[in-house]
Amino acid sequence: MLTLDGISKTFFPGTVNERTALDDVDLHLEQSEFVTVIGSNGAGKSTLLNVVSGSYRADTGTVTIDGHNVTKLNDHQRARYIGRVFQNPSAGTAPHMTIEENLAMAFERGQRRLLRKGVTRAKRADFREHLAVLEQGLEDRLKDWVGLLSGGQRQSLSLLMATFSQPDILLLDEHTAALDPQRAELVTRLTGELVEKQQLTTLMVTHNMEHALRLGSRLIMMHGGRIILDVSGEKKQSMTVPDLLAEFEKVKSEVSDRTLLQ
Ligand SMILES: Nc1ncnc2c1ncn2[C@@H]1O[C@H](COP(=O)(O)OP(=O)(O)O)[C@@H](O)[C@H]1O
Ligand SMILES: [Mg+2]
Repeated sequence: MLTLDGISKTFFPGTVNERTALDDVDLHLEQSEFVTVIGSNGAGKSTLLNVVSGSYRADTGTVTIDGHNVTKLNDHQRARYIGRVFQNPSAGTAPHMTIEENLAMAFERGQRRLLRKGVTRAKRADFREHLAVLEQGLEDRLKDWVGLLSGGQRQSLSLLMATFSQPDILLLDEHTAALDPQRAELVTRLTGELVEKQQLTTLMVTHNMEHALRLGSRLIMMHGGRIILDVSGEKKQSMTVPDLLAEFEKVKSEVSDRTLLQ
């Protein structure tokens, strides 16, 4: 469903600010594969997602989504393949529109044909059903402005909107990091449920190792723009947070050894 082949990305090349964010990354996700992504700050996680979404153009390599080579398409041209939730709760929804208007927008985006615009009674009933799954009473607040919602409610709504159109790829970039622990738990649980129900091919960045282990069928760890650990199946299921920390320490010392030897 998603293939990255030889992807590199360097910011400000040839200047003192040069930063290699991705260093020859190969990654393939099968249809319905749910991959969690961890790694230290600056490891290249967000850049990876931005290269998939088309927000950044890679310097080298190709991006293929559902058999289409999208390497040269920008983020708008790739939008129909991608659902996305960012860290900032205000990024995914329109605050001066009502809940139902936001949902209608997300719904229309997912349609391949042009449907009648606006919120019909049938759509409203459908929206209520979807909102009820979020277990936050939003199904009774269809005409409330989204700007009135809490961070957790907005992230839940963003998640619903991102998954509404059955995207080929769902990208989640630390989408629970700005929430208090209780709300983060709720949105994490909803993420697992929505992805499972729709069998979405998903890349989820998180700094919460426990969530990275609990969710998804596969886990990758990034460091210095490379994928340094890639585990799935039983191997992933049997891993613990201390195991992950140990892997991370191992690589960090290897990397610093290598740097010392240069
Ligand atoms: N828009 C940008 N302009 C310049 N440098 C960037 C930009 N985005 C990311 N970087 C750099 O690329 C590297 C990887 O960043 P990022 O992908 O955001 O890491 P992560 O999400 O893992 O914390 C870092 O060194 C960061 O400073
Ligand atoms: Mg990031």
